[in-house]
Amino acid sequence: MTQDELKQAVAKAALDYILPKLEKDSIVGIGTGSTANYFIDALAEHQDLFDGAVSSSQTSEDRLKGHGIPVYDLNSTGSFEFYIDGADETNERLELIKGGGAALTREKIVAACAKEFICIADDSKMVDLLGAFPLPVEVIPMARSYVAREIVKLGGDPVYRDGVVTDNGGVILDVHNLAIKSPMELESKINQLTGVITNGLFALRPADTLLLGTKNGVQTLKAK
Ligand code: A5P
Repeated sequence: MTQDELKQAVAKAALDYILPKLEKDSIVGIGTGSTANYFIDALAEHQDLFDGAVSSSQTSEDRLKGHGIPVYDLNSTGSFEFYIDGADETNERLELIKGGGAALTREKIVAACAKEFICIADDSKMVDLLGAFPLPVEVIPMARSYVAREIVKLGGDPVYRDGVVTDNGGVILDVHNLAIKSPMELESKINQLTGVITNGLFALRPADTLLLGTKNGVQTLKAK
């Protein structure tokens, strides 16, 4: 199976996972990226079973609306049952690196409002140690150089993602060469740097469920 076929398989598995639990007034939290796109397209065929969505990016919002799915302001929905999103890396504790698509802050906010965060990923994303994928850090533009210098002190090599401005008006530093042995500790440390909006470690609030696409089928893993 190709990586794209694995992504489609986990998107379908996520749909099968949530469909029996959806109600007419359900709101579904939607992530960002190519795997989330497959999920949006699959979900769109069942619009009669739920009310609408909250989105973690303008790109996903546009795709949802393109299917005719109502997209609500998170401030008006309260918490909801499910958030479905991809990841750039995951470990067995379902701690993640996210933000390859620069949507990390909104993804973290929507995930925080969900009772269950269902991560959908192909098995190339499963790692023993997080950090081979450069850790995205969203920063207030004027703090970019300061934050970069502080991240060097933490042992990382930050690279400015040239030309990218997030939905929040932030910029992205991709931090290379981190072997992340204590994800929760590093997530907190980086978030405490002045000028950081947030970083792409999802360890303080990891996924609850991982649907992992493998050539032998989709595996369901639960956070330990
Ligand atoms: C978006 O900012 C990211 O967090 C994505 O969820 C992540 O990059 C996964 O993307 P793919 O589903 O395209 O691999």
